[in-house]
Amino acid sequence: MLSKRKTNKIKLLNNKKDFRLDKFIELALFARNGYYLRKKPIGRKFDFVTSPEISQMFGEIIGGYIVYHWKEKINSKFNLIELGPGNGTLFKDIERTAQILPNFFENADVNLIEINKELIKIQEKNLNYFRQSKIRWSEALNFRSKLPSIIYSNEFFDCFPVRQFLNDNNHWFERYVKFNQKENKYYSLNKRVINKKVLDNLSKYKKQKIYEVSYSRNKYFEQICKYLKKNRGICILIDYGYNKKIENFTLQAIYNHKKTNIFENIGQQDISSHVNFNELIEIAKQNKLKINEFISQRDFLIKYGILERKKKLLNKNLDLNKNLLDEEVDRLINVDRMGNLFKCLVVSNL
Ligand SMILES: C[S@@+](CC[C@H](N)C(=O)[O-])C[C@H]1O[C@@H](n2cnc3c(N)ncnc32)[C@H](O)[C@@H]1O
Repeated sequence: MLSKRKTNKIKLLNNKKDFRLDKFIELALFARNGYYLRKKPIGRKFDFVTSPEISQMFGEIIGGYIVYHWKEKINSKFNLIELGPGNGTLFKDIERTAQILPNFFENADVNLIEINKELIKIQEKNLNYFRQSKIRWSEALNFRSKLPSIIYSNEFFDCFPVRQFLNDNNHWFERYVKFNQKENKYYSLNKRVINKKVLDNLSKYKKQKIYEVSYSRNKYFEQICKYLKKNRGICILIDYGYNKKIENFTLQAIYNHKKTNIFENIGQQDISSHVNFNELIEIAKQNKLKINEFISQRDFLIKYGILERKKKLLNKNLDLNKNLLDEEVDRLINVDRMGNLFKCLVVSNL
């Protein structure tokens, strides 16, 4: 689990040995002085803006979807679990939408999974109006409950560290990181893969020039699938990612809304990668879960009514600025903006 290793400090990296790329990312993001444990990254003033922060309609559509599934398929006590709630905005919009069904929250055991103590403080403040005793915060998912669960996340799975492999004439190399004491900076180097288990795994990808994988992400999702399989439930996951072969590695760093080098601003900038949805779908299938949806964010939001919701909001409140709402929806669904890059995967055994 990522959280268990967070007592390490980034400065541990400043030694002479080289280490794997995923180890570097894990420390840069989750070490005690890493990005996710110390900074407030989300919002217009910070490094990136996420869909719930762009428009309340995003959370309302997900809220409608969740409420519908609870009423039709669960309709009893259940766990409502958000992974990586950021500022709490998505939860707030879902909570408002769920008010159409008063017994929804009466039956909900709410658990917010958040690793960042600063963000937990913001979530507590932003969700203060909601009877807080009903919300439990945890750093990691607790798989002990026997209740059915509704688990959802936005931009959570992109935070997991990745490993990168390059295929050079059927010889696999892995990307490592080393610290140069003289120049006081990090650089990457490729090391020939000799581990048999890793090579066996890579043999499936021998037609590809590159392969990027997050084993920790896949494992986390697998645990969710097993949990759903055992206790029933649904997982709604929205993230940027792909389901086709990629030509280039997707790892990126964002600092102050700009793309940067992953070796700069360590602990101060976000490092993320695109989610390989094919692998998640495969894991869900192996665990005999249904793939309820795998569509682009655009198709999901349109299918479940964002355009109608926009009209309704404008009709209900004449003071709302139509251009602003149009711009918000465009940003979420336009194929050249977030519409296609972001995908929605829903798996369940409901
Ligand atoms: C990119 S932000 C997205 C926030 C929010 N979902 C949104 O859409 O605005 C990622 C969130 O996941 C949290 N997070 C990342 N990795 C985590 C982990 N392994 N366990 C718990 N929380 C994590 C971060 O602290 C942050 O709240």
